[in-house]
Amino acid sequence: MRIDIISAVPELLSGPLDHSIIGRARDFGKVDIVIHDVRAYSKDKHKKVDDYPFGGGAGLVMTPQPIFDCIESLKKERTYDAVLFPTPDAVVLDQKMVNSFSLFENLIILCGHYKGVDQRVRDEIITHEFSIGDYVLSGGELPAMVLVDSIVRLIPGVIGDSESALDDSFQDGLLSAPVYTRPADFRGHKIPEVLASGNHEKIRKWRENKAIERTGKIRPDLLRNVIDK
Ligand code: ADE
Repeated sequence: MRIDIISAVPELLSGPLDHSIIGRARDFGKVDIVIHDVRAYSKDKHKKVDDYPFGGGAGLVMTPQPIFDCIESLKKERTYDAVLFPTPDAVVLDQKMVNSFSLFENLIILCGHYKGVDQRVRDEIITHEFSIGDYVLSGGELPAMVLVDSIVRLIPGVIGDSESALDDSFQDGLLSAPVYTRPADFRGHKIPEVLASGNHEKIRKWRENKAIERTGKIRPDLLRNVIDK
């Protein structure tokens, strides 16, 4: 998989994509992540990538020219399955969407800044929009990293234990059950006995019940989706 990320503040993206699971996935050639500074494509003599909104209003809007030029130059090199745009005025990202994006071969993520991007970019180039929640961030870089992390961990071979991504919260529509590790007794707080019983069927059932209980308590809206299925 190849992911091209376009940003006016590429410095924001370097650290988190270089370490841990994403860093290792890149080192092992499971994913190619290429960051592009949209300013490099600006035809403005001061390399400006934003301007005042027509009709007035606060904040600056990212201009279409550098974005169109950047994406067109990428599309000359290869075919892209999707051009994604993180924005608060979109559907909220969920595991189902992440699963479907993880099947793509080549992706572009455009990070907006300032007040947003010129609507013609959204109309003409963007194929999918997503929000990471009902709050406003100052740019699309953090949501882009949230998306990249959620996708990359699903690429086969990226997570050591191939089953662990399937066990994630949300993969079956439920939050996951609590997990414990050694010691079995920490300051008098003992692990649930069943987990040390060696009885796999009992453990599976216990986890299922805990997942349902937890989901009902914390996210009853999700539980309704599972019951409706
Ligand atoms: N850009 C700014 N806020 C955002 C959000 N909540 N989700 C996605 N992109 C954003």
